[in-house]
Amino acid sequence: MASKVVLITGANTGIGFQIVRALCSSSQAYEILVGGRSSNKVQDAISAAENEFPDTKSKLSPIQIDIESDDSINKAFSQVQSKYGKLDILVNNAGMRGGVSDERTITD
Ligand SMILES: NC(=O)c1ccc[n+]([C@@H]2O[C@H](COP(=O)([O-])OP(=O)(O)OC[C@H]3O[C@@H](n4cnc5c(N)ncnc54)[C@H](OP(=O)(O)O)[C@@H]3O)[C@@H](O)[C@H]2O)c1
Repeated sequence: MASKVVLITGANTGIGFQIVRALCSSSQAYEILVGGRSSNKVQDAISAAENEFPDTKSKLSPIQIDIESDDSINKAFSQVQSKYGKLDILVNNAGMRGGVSDERTITD
């Protein structure tokens, strides 16, 4: 059976990278598309996961995607469509840690 294609945005660090690690540790084979804004950071994350899980059944590939840019999203869509013809799972994780401030100002 063909591997499921999984795209994770914001996958070079934090929760996104932990999802990459979890998929790499699985006995299932996945095509893991490691999404990020910076190619260097994505490549470093892929190297780290490949070093940690040398026997993984999954294949890791970089994909550049900035979720605030329609151009970037369209480019990523075209890449996935032409290379895989499908996307089984999208983990739309990218975002800012603590993006909402806990501080509140009370005014009259
Ligand atoms: N950690 C928590 O306690 C918590 C709680 C509730 C919700 N969340 C949500 O869970 C998600 C991950 O959190 P985290 O703690 O893992 O955050 P994190 O460590 O700050 O990692 C965020 C990731 O998102 C990427 N990113 C940010 N803006 C982006 C954009 N416009 N396009 C593409 N990638 C972008 C970052 O890329 P760069 O490395 O290029 O900056 C980084 O890879 C976020 O959406 C956050 O709001 C987290």
